[in-house]
Amino acid sequence: ANAGQKTGRTRNFIEKMDETNKNCIVFYGSQTGTAEDYASRLAKEGKSRYGLNTMVADLEDYDFENLDEFPSDKIVMFVLATYGEGEPTDNAVEFYEHIRSDDVSFSNGSSLENLKYVAFGLGNNTYEHYNSVVRRVDESLTKLGATRIGVAGEGDDGAGTMEEDFLAWKDPMWSALAESMGLEEREAIYEPTFSIVDRETLTADSEEVYLGEPNKGYLQGTPKGPFNAQNPYTAEVAESRELFKSKDRSCLHMEIDVSGSNLTYQTGDHIAVWPSNAGFQVDLFLKTLGLTEKRNHVISIKALEPTAKVPFPTPTTYDAIARYHMEICAPVSRQMISTLAPFSPTEKIKAEMTRLGSDKDYFHEKTGHSFYNIAQFLTVLGEGATWDKIPFSAFIEGLNKLQPRYYSISSSSLVQPKKVAITAVVETQVLPSQEAPFRGVATHYLAALADKFNKGAKSDAYDLTYQIAGPRSRHTGTHLPVHIRHSNFKLPSDPSRPIIMIGPGTGVAPFRAFVQERAKQARDGVEVGKTLLFFGSRNAKEDYLYESEWAEYKEALGDAFELVTAFSRDTAKKVYVQHRLKEKSEEVNALLQKKALFYVCGDAARMAREVNTTLAQIIAENRKITPAKAEEVVKSMRAANQYQEDVWS
Ligand code: 2AM
Repeated sequence: ANAGQKTGRTRNFIEKMDETNKNCIVFYGSQTGTAEDYASRLAKEGKSRYGLNTMVADLEDYDFENLDEFPSDKIVMFVLATYGEGEPTDNAVEFYEHIRSDDVSFSNGSSLENLKYVAFGLGNNTYEHYNSVVRRVDESLTKLGATRIGVAGEGDDGAGTMEEDFLAWKDPMWSALAESMGLEEREAIYEPTFSIVDRETLTADSEEVYLGEPNKGYLQGTPKGPFNAQNPYTAEVAESRELFKSKDRSCLHMEIDVSGSNLTYQTGDHIAVWPSNAGFQVDLFLKTLGLTEKRNHVISIKALEPTAKVPFPTPTTYDAIARYHMEICAPVSRQMISTLAPFSPTEKIKAEMTRLGSDKDYFHEKTGHSFYNIAQFLTVLGEGATWDKIPFSAFIEGLNKLQPRYYSISSSSLVQPKKVAITAVVETQVLPSQEAPFRGVATHYLAALADKFNKGAKSDAYDLTYQIAGPRSRHTGTHLPVHIRHSNFKLPSDPSRPIIMIGPGTGVAPFRAFVQERAKQARDGVEVGKTLLFFGSRNAKEDYLYESEWAEYKEALGDAFELVTAFSRDTAKKVYVQHRLKEKSEEVNALLQKKALFYVCGDAARMAREVNTTLAQIIAENRKITPAKAEEVVKSMRAANQYQEDVWS
């Protein structure tokens, strides 16, 4: 597990800081990269505003036995995401367990009285253990005698306020830190973290140039497993069909063939899809920065600091970076605007940028509902001027890495172990501020793949080159890079155990898999318990997902299968899944007492909460206990994994 030991690098962070002359280390506990990005931003800001000598560090790369020897004139920062049911991210597990352990000790005892730290957590308030990792780390450090500077910040992804929570937390933190360490704030001077080196002897056709390939295996045209979050498998689309019967809305059922790989999945797992950015977005981005002419120039990127990591393989091209590696379509952040202000094309624009970057209310007033991405924003604000003074490093640092998107698998691994189904709504929002209809990155990408698959259409919006296992080896089919993420959302191992599933909209995805699996078991003569599914959608005519399939499953399962529907827009009064659940109060309670598993999938913010509340009401009524007691029962069901969620916001 110790990467450092293998490579002979030191795992002693204090030594490392001494060697590189640092006085501030920013540790991150990150699963998907957001905490890592925030850590980089803190390090950067500490340097430019306060002249700190900062470094960013992966918690996994160091040991913490000598935390008590950390000098009192230096500072440790922790940026810690909470994952799943209150767990630390994979890279933070060792650190977390070390400082949380009952008999924790360090090199010279168990006191951390010299240690000064700051802490920020990333969490999601729709989960019960909101930000529990940062809270517990903070609690442990304080108990061990360390001193926290500022408050322990908490960002909430559930409410969608992560960025603002971060900004609101960090300014007072910096003031407190400046006071504690005697730092002087200075006019922030932008110093690039990366330099861009033109590789004039290379062209985009050169063998060693990365054009979107994620790693060397791909570059050489021989991608090899294991396939995972660093190394996707390029799978072929085996089927793609429309599930909605409506003109203006679309939901794709797509089957992805993984038979050429050793990838395996289990019913209830997730599949990660690695999207790329739409061509027109890439074009606009490059044009705005004045890079259109240079888009296929070969460049290398060098980290100017020993601790910075170049986030994608090089040599490469601007085009490939914008298309495959950077989140260029996300709504622009206030921090980014503030960083870019000094590089504005005119003084007037600079003044406006500076105001937008520093005034939260003004920023929201101006950009609130536009969903402008960085290039759209700069184009509108700059009235078409080219922003060619911005060092490209600012984008490498300031924009997120393009991340894979996760989908709940909607097929059963028992029925089709090498074909993974997804059920994805393709929402297109028409926004007054946007010329083209607005679509999410992955949605847009899947829609392009579906078009290619069904119509053989070469999509104008997309360059699907890299989806074919590296641009240099050509396939004829429709391909996409994927990997599998295992989840705990699982059918009971004993098929005779009853299950209750709540899945409105595309929340039905894993339940289509569950029911498909149980139907197969029934056909194979296995005894299958009650299989009760609550599905909800707008109306029976247009968005009744898998309508004809349910009848087939019913044939196999007989009375064991029951589908209860809630169509919210077929009647004057809205009917939701939780209303139907309530109508079946007695039966639901009886099933739970027979150890039924209870599953919820779909919208976290409202639906999943309301279902939780409804279930507590059902339990209170039927068992004649107080609402508070019933809440406790639901809590203990969750703790015992009898109540499982696969929810998103
Ligand atoms: P609505 O859009 O008509 O309000 C799938 O999206 C289904 O979930 C739709 O029928 C949608 O109804 C419904 N839905 C919206 N909000 C919900 C909530 N809070 N609880 C349960 N279902 C909800």
